Amino acid sequence: MTRPFVLLSVAVSIDGHIDDMSPERLLLSNAEDFDRVDQVRAECDAILIGAETVRSDNPRLIVKSETRQAARRAAGRTAQPLKVTVTASGNLDPAAKFWHHGTDEHRPVIYTTEAGAPKARERLGKLADIVAVGETVDFGALLDDLGARGVDRLMVEGGSHMHTAFLSAGLADELHLAIGPTLVGDTSAPRFVNPAQFPGGATRRMRLVDVTQLGDVAVLRYHPKETQ
Ligand SMILES: NC(=O)c1ccc[n+]([C@@H]2O[C@H](COP(=O)([O-])OP(=O)(O)OC[C@H]3O[C@@H](n4cnc5c(N)ncnc54)[C@H](OP(=O)(O)O)[C@@H]3O)[C@@H](O)[C@H]2O)c1
Repeated sequence: MTRPFVLLSVAVSIDGHIDDMSPERLLLSNAEDFDRVDQVRAECDAILIGAETVRSDNPRLIVKSETRQAARRAAGRTAQPLKVTVTASGNLDPAAKFWHHGTDEHRPVIYTTEAGAPKARERLGKLADIVAVGETVDFGALLDDLGARGVDRLMVEGGSHMHTAFLSAGLADELHLAIGPTLVGDTSAPRFVNPAQFPGGATRRMRLVDVTQLGDVAVLRYHPKETQ
C-alpha cells in the first residue's frame, strides 16, 4: 500500500509561535501567502488538522478560489480535497464549519483511538467516517488508511500536536514554513512543534529546497527526510 506524500504547512511568528493566547486566531500571514496556501491546498488530495484547531479556529478548511476548484474538476478530481482530523476524546462540535463546507463530494474522515471511537461515532457518525487506528493514534496506520482511500498527497495544517507527531515519527516529506514579521512574546503561546525526540536530534540538518519572499512574509521550503 502506498502512503501519501506528506506536506506540513505552518505560519509562525519570528519568535516561533503559531498563535497568541487571545481567543481570536492570530493572522501571521498576508494576503499573498494565504493565496499561496490556497494553491497548495488545491494541489492536495486531503488536508488534515488536529481536533484542537477545529475547536479553537473553527476553520472551513477549503480551497477558496473558484478558478482552482474548476481546475480540479477539469482534471477529474473533486472540487475540494478530503478533510481529515485526529481526536482521542471525540469531543468535536457537530456544528463546526469543518463538517459543513466543501463536504458535498466526500465525508470528512476522523482518526481516533479504539477508546475514542464510540463517542466519535455517537456525536459525528452522521457527518464523518470514523476510523480507529490503535490504542493511541498510529500515524503510520493513518497514512496507510488514507493511501487506501486514494490519497496521494496529504497537507497537514497544524496545530503543534499534529506537526510534532508527523515530524517525530519521520513521516513528513516536505515542510512549508511561512514566517510572519511579528513577535508574540509570550512563552505560553503555542509553538510550531512541542518538545519531542526528532529523527537524528538537534544536529541533523534538513535540506532547504526553496526560499520565497511574499511581501513581508518569508516562505521556507524544507525536505525533512533529506540532508543537504
Ligand atoms: N499558525 C498556523 O499555521 C496554525 C495552523 C493551525 C493551528 N494553529 C494553532 O495551533 C493551536 C492548536 O494546536 P494544538 O497543538 O493545541 O492542537 P492540534 O494539533 O490542532 O490538535 C490537538 C488535538 O489532536 C488530538 N490528538 C493529538 N495527538 C493525538 C494522538 N496521538 N492520538 C489521538 N488524538 C490526538 C487531540 O484531540 P482531543 O483533545 O479531541 O483528544 C488533541 O487535543 C491553535 O492555537 C491554533 O490556532 C496555528
